[in-house]
This record gives sequence, structure tokens and C-alpha cells, in this order.
Amino acid sequence: MIIYKAKNYQDMSRKAANILSAQIIMKPDCVLGLATGSSPVGAYQQLIEWYKKGDLDFCRVTSVNLDEYKGLGPDSDQSYRYFMNSNLFDHVNIDISHTFIPNGLELDTKKACCEYNEVIAQVGGIDIQLLGLGNNGHIGFNEPGVAFERETHCVDLTESTIEANKRFFASEADVPRQAYTMGIKNIMQAKKILLIVSGKSKAQALKEALYGPITPLLPASVLQLHSDLTVVADEEALSLIDK
Ligand code: F6R
Repeated sequence: MIIYKAKNYQDMSRKAANILSAQIIMKPDCVLGLATGSSPVGAYQQLIEWYKKGDLDFCRVTSVNLDEYKGLGPDSDQSYRYFMNSNLFDHVNIDISHTFIPNGLELDTKKACCEYNEVIAQVGGIDIQLLGLGNNGHIGFNEPGVAFERETHCVDLTESTIEANKRFFASEADVPRQAYTMGIKNIMQAKKILLIVSGKSKAQALKEALYGPITPLLPASVLQLHSDLTVVADEEALSLIDK
């Protein structure tokens, strides 16, 4: 495990973007595993900037996202498809048909999940998986208690996740109660993992994830078992680890 300490969110974003761009430069036809939420927005902005300067080329890149709300489609501005288009895909030369996100509009759970596992297999697996960290230690939408061996599945979101995500919705009642997510098994099969963490509210979860017992009760703790884990976290997120 490598831990890079960043001064703040901006510094974390730049460092994370550097790692992602190195992946794209070293392997132009790579498969990026991507995340939504607040954590990666700054890194995406940095990648867009470098693309616009001519330093990055996404034309052969494929992406697979971690998760999507069940019931939301691309036209819903709260959907993760909408988020990815507006925060990254619309601004770089990625082939949109090579960007994959679980199909939130497929209400047949088994079908949606099988299809997504199939997508991940067909693209040849993930070269680098970008992850944010939930306050409760979740990764993707793998909430505390989920079995490590699960692949893509449908989850009931916990109260803490609904609470954390309501900031993106008009009201808490509008937050979908279920989501499709890659499972821990899909995530752990990525060749490399890049975990980005910012802010004091994540400090406890980050400490437990990296140095606590490996347990499904804190899903991110499984990352300790990955052979190529890079963590980029800011001073606040690392405040309970660094003395
Ligand atoms: C997003 C995702 C989630 C977030 C996590 C942190 O695709 O899968 O696990 O990474 O909830 O969210 P933020 O970055 O908003 O604090």
C-alpha cells in the first residue's frame, strides 16, 4: 500500500489525476473504473484541463462505473450517468459507447446485475479502479455487512448513506432507496486501486479501513488485501493516522 498525503482537496485531486493520467498514457486502451460523488470531481476537472491542453487522449479508453441508483436513467440529473456525462465524458474525447454504468432503468435486478458483470468481463477487467470512501466505510454502494465475495448486486441504501447523499437531491424523500453496485469481488479484481479521501468526516473510516480489522462491517477494510492499493488522502482525512 502506498499512501500519498495531500494538503487539501485540491492537492488530492491533482495527485489522483496524475495517477489516472499516467495510466492512460502508459496504456491508451486502458479500462478505468470510475466513481461519482464529491471526491472525484476535482480529479475529473484536472483530467479535462490536461485533455484540453492536448496532454491526454481518451479516444481508446473504456470506463466502467461503480454504481447507479435503481430507477434513475440518464435523463435524471441525479443519476450517476448524468453525473459522469456532465463531470467528465462530455468534456473529453472518450467514445461514449465505451462508457458503462449499471442500467438504473432495468428494474429486473437479476438481469441488470448479470449484464453488468458481463460488461466488466467483456472489457477485459479493470486496470485501475478509482474509489471514494463512505463515512461508514462503504465502497461503491457496498454497505457494512455485505459479503466480500459478491459481484454486482442491488442494495438497500443505509440511513447514513441516504443522509450523506441527500445533499444532491431536492429533499431526503427524493433519494432512491436502492442502487446497483459492483460488488467487492469486482472491485478487488481490478489490477490497481486508487482510493481518494478528503475531509475530517472520513478520518475515522479511513483509519479503520487501512489499519483496523478486515471485516465486512467496514467494507473498505478489504482493500488491505489488495496487492496494488494507492491511497491519496488529505491532511484532515489522515488526521487520525498521522501523529
Ligand atoms: C460513488 C460511490 C460512493 C462514494 C462515497 C463517497 O460512485 O460509489 O462509494 O465514493 O459515498 O462519496 P463522496 O465522494 O461524495 O464523499
